[in-house]
Amino acid sequence: MKINKDINQFDIPLAKRTYLDNPNSILLKKLLIISPFFFLIFSIAALRGIRNIELEPFINLKSYDERNYDYRILGHLPYDQIPKEKLVLIEPNVEVHIDMHDSLLKMREEARNDGIYLVFLSGYRSINLQNDIFYSLKSIRNQEAAERAKVSAPPGYSEHSTGFAIDIGDATQRETDFETEFENTQAFRWLSKNAAKFHFKLSFNKDNRYVDYEPWHWRYEGSIEALKIFENSNRSL
Ligand code: DAL
Ligand code: ZN
Repeated sequence: MKINKDINQFDIPLAKRTYLDNPNSILLKKLLIISPFFFLIFSIAALRGIRNIELEPFINLKSYDERNYDYRILGHLPYDQIPKEKLVLIEPNVEVHIDMHDSLLKMREEARNDGIYLVFLSGYRSINLQNDIFYSLKSIRNQEAAERAKVSAPPGYSEHSTGFAIDIGDATQRETDFETEFENTQAFRWLSKNAAKFHFKLSFNKDNRYVDYEPWHWRYEGSIEALKIFENSNRSL
């Protein structure tokens, strides 16, 4: 009995227990329990707000960059080099993408049937070869990069590296090869009228803001792969 009495000394008095049933204290208790969740939610919301404010200028900068420059260098878009196994030889020293082979030869045959003789001057060019063409001739001609880029793409930026570009001349007027005067040949007139039938398109027309007019340079757009490759170029017309 004595032991129980001692234990009762530590019991909480009945009056104090009723304090726990007070409606205000229950509310306070509930608030205390849920307050960490509120704190967490507000912290996340605040952090997200701060991040958006900080990132906004960069997001805008990125879209400005994409809109205005398209990752161009001196006006030329970047192009990967096509793997060797996708190339096929059509003339000594002229290789093209296997997907455009049939269409290109058909176009030449159709032209011949109309009395027009097309000659293929340059097809696929590796990035190494493009490097030589760009820098060696730049040096020989004492040109600055921007001036050279008007007529030649920097390495890694030529449609020729995709295998889908072909430079065409007139077999009866070889003096016009790679010259603007090619536009006065029968071959060019025939191409302007018929190339689209074979899915070829002039890449650098007179409206091009960056590259000089090249009436001899045509690209193939007769496959999804080719269209994907030239999507940026077509979008920025
Ligand atoms: N002449 C064109 C621009 C090239 O080098 O690809
Ligand atoms: Zn070309």
